[in-house]
Amino acid sequence: MEFAEQVKSSVDIVNVIGEYVRLKRSGSGPRYVGLCPFHTEKTGSFSVHATHQFYKCFGCGAGGDVFKFIMEIETLTFWEALKYLAERNGIPLPKRSDLADDEAKKRGGIYEMHEIAVKQFRDLLFSPAGEDAREYLKRRGLSKATAEEFGLGLSERSGQTLARIFEKQGYAPDDMEASGLVLRRNDGSGFFDRFRGRLMFPIHSESGKVIAFGGRALAEGDEPKYLNSSETSIYRKSHVLYNLNRARKPVQAAGFSILVEGYMDVIGVYAAGIHNVVATCGTSLTNFQARSLRRHATELVVNFDPDNAGANATERSIPILLEESMRLKVLQLGGGLDPDEYIKTNGTDAYLDALKNARGYFHWLADRARARLDMQTPEGRVAAFQFLLPAIQKMPDRLERLSVANDVADYMKMAPGIVLDEFRKAATEKRGQVTRREELSPEATEVILLHALLDNAEARAEIAPVLRELKVVTTLRSHRIMETILRMIEAGETPSYSSVEGRLGEPDKALMISLVFADDTLTRDFSTEQAVACVRKLMMEERDSLRDDLRRRIKEAERSGNMEEAIRLFTELSKLERGE
Ligand code: UTP
Ligand code: MN
Repeated sequence: MEFAEQVKSSVDIVNVIGEYVRLKRSGSGPRYVGLCPFHTEKTGSFSVHATHQFYKCFGCGAGGDVFKFIMEIETLTFWEALKYLAERNGIPLPKRSDLADDEAKKRGGIYEMHEIAVKQFRDLLFSPAGEDAREYLKRRGLSKATAEEFGLGLSERSGQTLARIFEKQGYAPDDMEASGLVLRRNDGSGFFDRFRGRLMFPIHSESGKVIAFGGRALAEGDEPKYLNSSETSIYRKSHVLYNLNRARKPVQAAGFSILVEGYMDVIGVYAAGIHNVVATCGTSLTNFQARSLRRHATELVVNFDPDNAGANATERSIPILLEESMRLKVLQLGGGLDPDEYIKTNGTDAYLDALKNARGYFHWLADRARARLDMQTPEGRVAAFQFLLPAIQKMPDRLERLSVANDVADYMKMAPGIVLDEFRKAATEKRGQVTRREELSPEATEVILLHALLDNAEARAEIAPVLRELKVVTTLRSHRIMETILRMIEAGETPSYSSVEGRLGEPDKALMISLVFADDTLTRDFSTEQAVACVRKLMMEERDSLRDDLRRRIKEAERSGNMEEAIRLFTELSKLERGE
């Protein structure tokens, strides 16, 4: 029997998918249903067939066998998915691993380097050289068992350790660099470790593989407080949630997840026996992350730090969570304490109580509005209502939107007539927005841009100089294609399908073909304006990510008491927001 067949016949697709999606058996038959992990929905269109061992979503059309599922959900190649399932089920891998493609081999090397790093960091933490760090953990009330469970470690100060090990083990310099764990010396004489003298928090993929690190400074005044891994081919920040690998079962069991801000918050809450807790890794919450949580439970409690930065982050995360049909509450702890400190100070029971009494997001928002606006005047109440509207608009379910709007009116003591008017206005605007957005899905944007650059001289002249300046272009799926075209234009050449294709590698060739043959209704009524609108959309995305980055740095500066820097960054942020 072929190896893939052997693996397939020894796993049960229902168990495998059940780790990612809450499945319910439909009657007593072989079918299981749940919420589709590949698109946003409120009713379960996703079904898994135990006899035929395949899955199918009747909402978005996703479907396939167990390999396909793992490939999609973990973004793995076929070989990686096969290996993953074999390892998990104790099926020995065939000796000849030349089944792997180049890409998978490269990534395999990076995974290995992360394994080596985890072990190295851990050994150092529990060696005599780790005494100060262990003392630090003890001071923060973190037991040895917890440190072990989270795989904590210590990176060595001199910055030679990993670089030496990787060199000795014969990793190619390019692969070493691609791991992000070591950095090339400026003079080209080799490598040094990225993380030096820091307490190391391994970050895992949902299936539990180490894919990145956060490193906390140990000495007061060491900057930055947390140094995180850069993005690599195995780590996409916007996709990963810290601790989801341990939390996913507990989240399913509890029926809700707790979202906190920091690594230490996760560990503090988890160590108190509350296991359904996750955090983002120093970035704003994304739709992708919201969807990962919703796969396991549709309810969530946001419990960020009670400072201004935490409140702003909460405010930003609400529309995203609502957009993914999550039911959410906000827990703001008293005494200016973050979850970790709160549990240390007031105990687990007090935290559990606070959790139980967390209020719907909407009351939290209303309280924020009330604190800012004068609710005694009708204008103030309308302004407050308008502050709440965007969040309400994000709710996908119409009935729920209406009922929340009524609650709001009640809470704000507004005349129901005014509320309904505002609400209808907002709903019409919302419909407008949705269609505009659908026309400009990421895929559609790329199709239109490619068409503009290849087939229309006027549009090309208009957009190429702007595209060249945009960093977001590098995040497009087709970025290599775009970059190739832009370089040709810069060199004075006129790009054509064949001249571009000749310069691309296999996957990009295939991607270009699929974009060129994509839905031709997209480019049937092509105009330069349409291309410009796509570029504008990218500019907005770029601005948003700059803004997120600035906000994060402001928060860092504020926390480390560097007010001068905070003010400087804040000025930059205000300029950006004024569109300068
Ligand atoms: P916090 O400063 O609240 O850290 O930042 P923390 O996890 O509570 O740690 P302690 O308790 O102060 O030791 C929250 C999160 O923001 C990200 C990290 O993910 C951190 O866990 N962050 C913070 C960074 O990425 N870089 C920084 O410099 C600071
Ligand atoms: Mn904190």
